[in-house]
This record gives sequence, structure tokens and C-alpha cells, in this order.
Amino acid sequence: MDLLVALDVAVETAKAAGALLNDGLSEGKTITRKSSAVDLLTEYDQAAETLIIERLQESFPNHNLVSEESEQDRFQSNESPFVWYVDPLDGTNNFANGYPVISTSIALYESGRPVLGVVYDPTRDECFSAAAGQGAYLQTGKAQRRLQVSRENELLDSLLATGFPYDRHHTLDDNLAQLAAFLKTARGIRRAGSAALDLAYVAAGRLDGYWELLISSWDVAAGACLVMEAGGRISNLDGSAWNIAPKTAMIASNGHIHQSMVDVLASTLIPTG
Ligand code: IPD
Ligand code: CA
Ligand code: CA
Repeated sequence: MDLLVALDVAVETAKAAGALLNDGLSEGKTITRKSSAVDLLTEYDQAAETLIIERLQESFPNHNLVSEESEQDRFQSNESPFVWYVDPLDGTNNFANGYPVISTSIALYESGRPVLGVVYDPTRDECFSAAAGQGAYLQTGKAQRRLQVSRENELLDSLLATGFPYDRHHTLDDNLAQLAAFLKTARGIRRAGSAALDLAYVAAGRLDGYWELLISSWDVAAGACLVMEAGGRISNLDGSAWNIAPKTAMIASNGHIHQSMVDVLASTLIPTG
């Protein structure tokens, strides 16, 4: 498989899906609920997903594919080591309100390792992309620049991002203790509503770190690749090695504040026994 051809297909596909979402941002939508009262679905999530799946399957008919809105069809169960992870619309809560913070996220992994990641923000025409060993880039119109994580090494001077799980109304794993701990130790916290963009912003040095307690593979697959290729670090909450999985927790950072984030999260764990 030609990596640069695959990256080109992923970029063009993300841009086409993003254009569809941008057209729908200020239109009326039909909103239904999925796993909980705050887990929403619109016809645009599905239309963008159909577009992406058709294009990826046309170009890579033998690859496996995991995509949010057709989770039940997640693997084509062939023997290919390649898996595409697709979130057609990351930020559906924002989209439902016409709040312009949304993205399309597409990643390719081989035997569990990132091969490429693309996060496209159609509202700003910002396309974040990375290929393994080739660095991460931001393309806006015809301009392109290489991405590098920030150099900040003090948590107190760091801007962080997070998100909250859709079952938060009914679970104690609601990220409130962790939010409180970082509010007291970091410079600021943002909850923009698109994990893929949060990670793209860590890669771009616009954020210094990100954490989330319960996140799906399609939310973070592309963003993790961006952060790694921009010189940052990804781990589980205790600092151990992160691997792509259907549901995970994650810290992503510029590397310099990583241990401080691990320490803050460790301080929030409820002692057992
Ligand atoms: C959600 C967003 C949000 C994050 C949630 C995700 P969706 O994805 O990425 O920022 O906090 O955990 O589920 O539902 O908008 O695709
Ligand atoms: Ca998502
Ligand atoms: Ca989504």
C-alpha cells in the first residue's frame, strides 16, 4: 500500500464529508438519541458516514473499517492488518446547535499501530494530517505548515482540554473530580466538544494537554497519530503505553507536562479498601 496515496484519499474524503457538514451546520436537522439523552444523532452524521465509507471501500476494498454510526458492522473480518477508524462528525452536540466546532476524523492503523490520521475542521478549512514517520501538518487553503507540540513545561502555565462521557448523568465516572483537580492546577481548561480537534490542537501547540476518561477508538485514532507525529506523547491515565481499543481513557500532551498530568489524575483516584 502506498502511504502517500492513502493519505491523499483520506484527506480528500475528510474534506468532502466536512463540506457536507458545513452546509448543514446552520440548517434544521432531525435529531435522535442514541445511548443516552445527551448522545445525539443527526441525518448529517449518517450522510457523512455513507460518503466516507463508500470512498474508503472503493479505494481499499480489502481493509477493515470501524465507523461510529455503523458500529455493528465494525469489522469486515478479513485477514488484512489494516483498520480504518472513522468519526464522520465529531462534535454532534455542537452541530445540533449550530455551534461551529466540529470535525471529521479518519485514521488508518496497521496491526494496532497508527499509519495515518486526518482531522478536518470545515468551519475554518483547517486540515490536520499526519503519516507515520513523516511528521504532522496543517493545511489551510494552499498554505501548509509542519506541526510541533508546545514547549510549555509547567502545568500551571498550561491550557488543557477534556470531554465528558455520555453516561455521565448516571455514573460516578463523570470526570468531575478530575476537572476540579486540573482547574486548581492548570492555567485553563477548555471543553470544546470535539475530541479529534482537541488532539489536533495539542499537535498544533494550541493546547498543551488533553485527557478523557472514556472515549471511543474513532474519536481519538486520528488525533493520536497527529500528536505522536508532532512530537507529543499519548498514554493511559497512569502513564502506561496507550493502545487503540474500542473504549479507552487517554492523556495526550506535549510530553513536557505529561508526568504532571499523570500525577494530578493519580491524586483523584478514590482509594479502595
Ligand atoms: C464526542 C466528542 C466529545 C467527547 C465525547 C465524544 P461525538 O464525540 O468528541 O468532545 O467528549 O467523548 O463522544 O459524539 O460528537 O462524535
Ligand atoms: Ca466522536
Ligand atoms: Ca461522531
